Amino acid sequence: MNQTPIIFSLFGNDNLTDLLQKKLDYELGKISIHQFPDEECVIEIESNIAGRDIIFVTSLDRPNHKCLSLFFAAETARTLGARQIMLIAPYLAYMRQDKRFKKTQGITSQYFAKLISTYFDSLITIDPHLHRWHSLNDIYTIPAKVIHATDNIAQWIKKNVSNAVLIGPDAESLQWVEEIAKKSNAPFLILEKTRKGDRDIEVAISDIELYRESIPILIDDIISTGMTMIETVRHLQTLSMNSPICIGVHAVFAGNAYRELIASGVKEVVTCNTIQHESNRIDISDGIFHVLKTEKP
Ligand code: R5P
Repeated sequence: MNQTPIIFSLFGNDNLTDLLQKKLDYELGKISIHQFPDEECVIEIESNIAGRDIIFVTSLDRPNHKCLSLFFAAETARTLGARQIMLIAPYLAYMRQDKRFKKTQGITSQYFAKLISTYFDSLITIDPHLHRWHSLNDIYTIPAKVIHATDNIAQWIKKNVSNAVLIGPDAESLQWVEEIAKKSNAPFLILEKTRKGDRDIEVAISDIELYRESIPILIDDIISTGMTMIETVRHLQTLSMNSPICIGVHAVFAGNAYRELIASGVKEVVTCNTIQHESNRIDISDGIFHVLKTEKP
């Protein structure tokens, strides 16, 4: 029996899948999702997966468009005899709703974890938004491995910017900004952020004047509406600081967010390739490669 895992790209995640397939010398799988005129779908897996370990690679931004087909793909694979089914979701959705912000709300991070844990045997992801949940094990019941992009980001900063001051937009960002600061030998500041609505944000920075000559580098895990970054850029402008570089791990960019962020007066927008996007400059595939190399799926 062929023991080489088969890796499949779903929903256009071909760049990262190809990088991993080549580095690991896995078999590249053939899968198609055909959508009928009524928007129902059928999954076809052409590769012979019976008795084989398989890996689906897809980022889970825009999850509502993807997940039913994703679950059908896993179930199709299971019924065609796949042995273990791993999901590599470089961006893991629904992590931010980690409590009832209103008594009448649901906790979607929990419900989403329950679904993923039902259809897959294991999960690998990059920097999930862990805030009130301290570990994926709090909500996922399958082995879930977290890889950090901090090394890759620190290397990018060291190579491309001298005299940087790193800025984290809120208390949650301390965990990764502090780590990146250590690895890139740069000072850092953490802002106070108040979110009053989806696109209504206030930030406060202290001590930034000490770094007037520096290049501010705003670092966040997710850039969604871009408003956290844009508000911070505006704040830095009122203090006559240098134009900042914005680094996001996950280039979610809802609607026009990318263009709006570029237009706000930033020097550059840089993201990791966890979600395929034109701003991807930092390749995180080595982290996934090392995990797959040492812990076979
Ligand atoms: C939230 O706590 C996250 O770390 C990000 O700060 C947030 O998701 C960014 O969202 P937006 O781009 O919509 O301001």
